[in-house]
Amino acid sequence: MVPQWIIEKKRDGRPLTRDDIEFFISGFTSGKIPDYQMSALAMAIYFQGMTPTELSDLTNAMMNSGKVMDLSSIKGFKADKHSTGGIGDKVSIILAPLAASCGVPVPMISGRGLGITGGTLDKLESIPGYRTGLSAAEFKRVLKKCGCSMIGQTADLAPADKKLYALRDVTGTVPSIPLISASIMSKKLAEGADGLVLDVKFGSGAFMKDLKSARELAHTMVGIGKRMKKKMSALLTDMNQPLGRTAGNSLEIKECIECLRGNGPADLMLITHELTARMLVMAGVAKDTKSAIRMQEDRIKSGKAFANFKKMVQLHGGSVKHIDNPALLPNAAIIKPLKAKRTGYATEVSAELIGRACLVLGAGRQAVTDKIDHAVGVSGIVKVGEKIAQGKPLMFVHANSEKRLKESLALLEQAVIISVNPVRKLKLIREEIVM
Ligand code: URA
Repeated sequence: MVPQWIIEKKRDGRPLTRDDIEFFISGFTSGKIPDYQMSALAMAIYFQGMTPTELSDLTNAMMNSGKVMDLSSIKGFKADKHSTGGIGDKVSIILAPLAASCGVPVPMISGRGLGITGGTLDKLESIPGYRTGLSAAEFKRVLKKCGCSMIGQTADLAPADKKLYALRDVTGTVPSIPLISASIMSKKLAEGADGLVLDVKFGSGAFMKDLKSARELAHTMVGIGKRMKKKMSALLTDMNQPLGRTAGNSLEIKECIECLRGNGPADLMLITHELTARMLVMAGVAKDTKSAIRMQEDRIKSGKAFANFKKMVQLHGGSVKHIDNPALLPNAAIIKPLKAKRTGYATEVSAELIGRACLVLGAGRQAVTDKIDHAVGVSGIVKVGEKIAQGKPLMFVHANSEKRLKESLALLEQAVIISVNPVRKLKLIREEIVM
């Protein structure tokens, strides 16, 4: 086979065969096919798209470029959740111990922050000692002991994706639905779960800015999973305002602890319960979403879900003392309220501007080599529809330098729009994709 003939085929809009795709992906992974040829193929895919069969073949080839985890030693139906990312999206950290406490093992491989969106691994690492880099054997041991484990992508999990993602980042080929879908699904399928629930977000704080493109992405990923014989479900959820009332790593862990203790904010608990419910139903431990939600409420009330979280933290080497007493988690030196300039109702709370402010504060990375400041971020964020009195806080900014505080305030002062007339709360879950 000749790489440039495969590139030409895709460039001219003809479908690639499984052999073409496997040859290209294995050649690229081993280094035989150079970056410039892979980049050219990615650009051809960007313009020409892929058929469902090509997409399955691409996902399969990327998944098989490394090891596919064998979780057959873990009993029961294993389920996972993937979110396309957003501001204040800490659902995974509540959902994994919660689903496990209901009897569904959750093997979760998570990512770091990307752009303005936060990453589960960065949040977990604000717990002193928590190791996100477990070996496959350690990962399975933790899973067996407490039913959930949350780690980062290991070197041998979908290495083709790791290489291709870095290349797409610098060749203008990231925003392609086939390439995004194959990238996410190859990693998720390689972790060995039997079913996957997707939270595909749209809005100012999400990767997909509108509902239509989020729907297309969700359909594409659900289709890939189904063709790979996995149970799949997807919710399309609004990310125009942050999820919950905090954004920033240790602030979000503190909020997760509140949720697991039964004091979580309504929007965050709604999404967590609905996503977890789909996992419980696909695993067969609940007959419908209603009873699945009741089961979760019971596990939170009884303290089982929280106990599971503590156990997972401990098995990952994290400090349980910090979970029992969250005030010990990293705290910023400066905490400043951002006060409402008028009385009225919050009509817009911009996830994008709050995400950018968190990045400026140091909660995310501006360059890949940047070190994260786990203590900084925003808490007590007002929600769309809430009444606010002039002079009362719209949120609290947590900073570790006056310079960064000032820069973030310039963004945050534009983030909340207040009107005199009451407005409705945002509808969080817009659609469910069942195929
Ligand atoms: N996340 C991924 O893992 N891959 C993409 O292509 C985009 C988001």
